[in-house]
Amino acid sequence: MVDSPYPELKKTHTMARVGRPYTDRKPPAAAPVWDVIEGYGRFHALNSALELGVFDVLAEIGPAEAGTLALRLDVSPTHLETLLEGVVAMGLLDRRHRSFELNDTARRYLVSDSPASMASLVPVSPGPLENWHRLTDTVRTGAPVDPVDDDASFHVPLVEGTFTTINRCAMRADRQLRYSALTAPRVLELGAGGAPWSIAVLESRTDATAVVNDLDGVLGVARRTIAERGLLDRVEFRAGDFHHIDVESAGYDLVVLGHICRTEGEAGTRSLMQRSFDALRPGGRVLIGDYFCDEQRSQAGHALMMGVTMMASTRRGRTFTHGQIGAWLTDAGFEAVRCIEPIGFQEVFVGVRPSAARANERGARR
Ligand SMILES: C[S@@+](CC[C@H](N)C(=O)[O-])C[C@H]1O[C@@H](n2cnc3c(N)ncnc32)[C@H](O)[C@@H]1O
Repeated sequence: MVDSPYPELKKTHTMARVGRPYTDRKPPAAAPVWDVIEGYGRFHALNSALELGVFDVLAEIGPAEAGTLALRLDVSPTHLETLLEGVVAMGLLDRRHRSFELNDTARRYLVSDSPASMASLVPVSPGPLENWHRLTDTVRTGAPVDPVDDDASFHVPLVEGTFTTINRCAMRADRQLRYSALTAPRVLELGAGGAPWSIAVLESRTDATAVVNDLDGVLGVARRTIAERGLLDRVEFRAGDFHHIDVESAGYDLVVLGHICRTEGEAGTRSLMQRSFDALRPGGRVLIGDYFCDEQRSQAGHALMMGVTMMASTRRGRTFTHGQIGAWLTDAGFEAVRCIEPIGFQEVFVGVRPSAARANERGARR
């Protein structure tokens, strides 16, 4: 066989000889697709390990082999071992020889009584799983099959699960916001869940007071977290829809919209910003916690996926860019708008209601 002088026709490069077509293009790896396929299994494997109490038992007894753990948890040893190998593959447990043990991530985030625990958040965070199974229908019709907007039974475990993280964020935010230096600060927390921000302010000053709002069926979570800390006498609970409850004008030093705007769409978010502006005293500040996107909506992976999660289970769910939030706050009349990150991955926009004189000055300049 004589080879052709033209490389593209060389018989030595035919598929029969080299087992693949002659090409100088390397095909992209399929790894990102496998990541997604495995994502489903990863979520359920972690959920099962949490449900079985694996992390809590390892925290109690230290490193253990699957057989010992299985005896303690009353499950099948071989099945438990396979499950835990998956958890090791996800980097959420370590394995030394035959024993499984907690690593730093598991100790901090997956043991249920750790101060930063996400153990109760994992199962509820994606929203109802049925909505994910019907995602194509949601995109076709423009509405989720089973929206959770007013569903207290969904929100109760969710806000119980997020409380520790957001409360830590609120406490750390004092370094930048110095709410603990205000005299008798008054806080309004809308859609408060377990009231993580009100608790941080109330614990920082004995003269602080708060009005805590949420849907009737969810407000019990805040009642419990606040009672557990002995703060009930400085809190008024105001049940109802945050778009419609009565709110005093110019009555507050801080208004908190913590992780509520992403279910409200642009109109609802702007309206909440305006309500907050009216509720604040001059010099008072609005705090908006959420997962915000980059301007191109292509880089902020967590915020973009949070947008999909919101779309899957709420009527107007969507995440917003830093630019949108900043512009809408300015439109509402706020000044000195900035975004802080008190703890990793928790961003909070801050806007100040100017004094009447400043507001007139700004109005005249426009
Ligand atoms: C994602 S959670 C955020 C909880 C808390 N603000 C935080 O940052 O941890 C959203 C909260 O908003 C409440 N919520 C949703 N729609 C509401 C409405 N229309 N009026 C009052 N509360 C609402 C939910 O019940 C839930 O507690």
